[in-house]
Amino acid sequence: MQPLVQITNLSVVFDTEDGPLTAVDDLSLELRRGEVLGLVGESGCGKSVTALALMRLLPRPPARILSGAILFDGMNLLGLPVAQLRSLRGRRLSMIFQEPMNALSPLHKVGDQLAETILLHDPKISGADARNRAREWLLRVGMPDPELRLDDYPHQLSGGMRQRVMIAMALMLHPDVIIADEPTTALDVTVQAQILDLLRAMRERDTAVLFITHDLGVVWEMCDRVAVMYAARIVEQAPRAMLFDSPCHPYTRGLLRSVVSLVNRDATLTTIEGQVPSALHYPPGCRFAPRCPYAQPRCLETIPPLEPAGEERLVACWRWRELPPGDRE
Ligand SMILES: Nc1ncnc2c1ncn2[C@@H]1O[C@H](COP(=O)(O)OP(=O)(O)OP(=O)(O)O)[C@@H](O)[C@H]1O
Ligand SMILES: [Mg+2]
Repeated sequence: MQPLVQITNLSVVFDTEDGPLTAVDDLSLELRRGEVLGLVGESGCGKSVTALALMRLLPRPPARILSGAILFDGMNLLGLPVAQLRSLRGRRLSMIFQEPMNALSPLHKVGDQLAETILLHDPKISGADARNRAREWLLRVGMPDPELRLDDYPHQLSGGMRQRVMIAMALMLHPDVIIADEPTTALDVTVQAQILDLLRAMRERDTAVLFITHDLGVVWEMCDRVAVMYAARIVEQAPRAMLFDSPCHPYTRGLLRSVVSLVNRDATLTTIEGQVPSALHYPPGCRFAPRCPYAQPRCLETIPPLEPAGEERLVACWRWRELPPGDRE
C-alpha cells in the first residue's frame, strides 16, 4: 500500500552569519496509515526541522530546501499553493509544536481559537456547538475547569495548560497525520499518560502519527517503527522491537545503552563519548565515526548510504555486517 506521507531525499540548510548550516541532509522517510513512527536522536539533529518542512512551516529565509519531495496522499507538499496548504493544515495535517506559543494566538481567547478551528472546517456547525466541542476537548486533554479556561487568553495559562490547548487543537479535527514534536515533555506524568492514550486512540482511527521525542521509554510504549537521526541524517530505521532488541547502528546501540544504564541505576552511567560535530562543518565521512568504537579509515572518508539490512530495517553504516550482534548489556 502507498504510504500516506513519503519524504524523499529532503535536504534543508539555514543560511547563518557563519555560513550554511546543514539541518536535514538527504532524508527519506515514509509514514503509513494508522502507525506511530518515532523520530529520535540527540538535540539539534534535525527532528523539528523535518517536521516543520513537512508542515511547510519553515521560516524561509533563513531556511532553504535544497532538494527533496514530500508526498502526502499523492500531492507534493513542497510545491502546493498556499491556499491549498491552508485547507490541509488542521483538517488533514496537524502538528503539536515543541513550543505551544507557535500555535496559539496571544490575542484571542482559548475557547474562541478552538471554536474557530472547528467552524473553519465545518461551517454547518453552530457557534454554541463549536464551543461545546471545544470544552469537551479540553476535558479530554486533562484541562482542569475547562468551562472557565475557555475564556482565558493563552498568557493566563501555565505552560502545561497551553500545551494541552494546542494538543486539543491538533487532535480535534481527526486529521490524517499528526506530527507530535515532544508533545508531553512539559506535562506531569498523569497528564502525559492521558495524552499518550489519546494519541493511541487516534491511531486506531487510521491516523498516522510522527512522534518526535528524546524519551526512549515513551518510544517503547507508543511507536510501531522508529527512525534514529544523527547529525541531520537517518542512521537507522526499524520496527520498534527489532530496534530495541538488536540495534544495528553503533549510534543506536549507544543511545539504548545509556537508557539501560538509567533503568538499572548504574553508577557508571554510559554515555556516548565525544560530541556531535557542528552542523556548519560536518566531516566528510560518517558523521558518527569520530565517536564510534568500530570506526575504520573508510568510515572517516565516505558517508555510508542508508541501505536495507533485512526486510524491515535500514541502516547507514559501512560495518554493520561485521559488528558483533547488537545487545544492550
Ligand atoms: N531558525 C533557525 N536558524 C538557524 N538554524 C536553525 C534554525 N532552526 C533550527 N536550526 C538548526 O538546525 C539544526 C536542527 O535543528 P532542530 O530544531 O531540527 O533539532 P532537533 O532535533 O529538533 O533538536 P531538539 O531535540 O533540541 O528539539 C540545529 O543545528 C539547529 O541549530
Ligand atoms: Mg526539536
